[in-house]
Amino acid sequence: MKNIVIFASGAGSNARKIIDHFKGSDLARVTLILSNKADAGILKIAEREQIPAVLIDKELFFRGDTYVKLLQEAQADLIVLAGFLWKVPANLVQAFPGRIINIHPALLPKFGGKGMYGHFVHEAVLAAGEKESGITIHYVNEKYDEGAIILQERCAVSVDDTPETLARKVQVLEHTWFPVIVERLLTQ
Ligand code: GRF
Repeated sequence: MKNIVIFASGAGSNARKIIDHFKGSDLARVTLILSNKADAGILKIAEREQIPAVLIDKELFFRGDTYVKLLQEAQADLIVLAGFLWKVPANLVQAFPGRIINIHPALLPKFGGKGMYGHFVHEAVLAAGEKESGITIHYVNEKYDEGAIILQERCAVSVDDTPETLARKVQVLEHTWFPVIVERLLTQ
């Protein structure tokens, strides 16, 4: 059985899809959840699902290898960032080469980088007059949103889209594809 570790700071809807996808699976389970926000929805989901959860200490996260050790002890096979906004420190990236992935709610390399998250992304896509948007699932390296792309899926942007309607279209793609890609990476 493989171990999936999820990092999330927000509502946790993607994390929940992944948890549900692997319930009853012979392949893998979500065995640990980390969050940097005490009030993140994901922590409530973890509690309900009885998945161990850790609130990340900022000082320790960016200095030393507390979290490298924690993830090694947890025998993490795949680390999934699902709405986690902090940059992953280099020591963590290096400890898990090719085993940390992220999802971004736009078609990278456009509309990525620091500060490009949530509604900011969708606002920027609309302001640029893009005809399509979508999702990017990619490996995590030391730079924000620049790791090798694993999958992109697209949706149309219509003239009457608002950041909210576009967010919903993109979220459908996220929920559909993220669990599938996690499974694919674990079986490769
Ligand atoms: C998603 O849109 C994801 O692409 C981005 O953060 C959002 C997380 O949403 N990185 P949720 O917390 O999974 O609902």
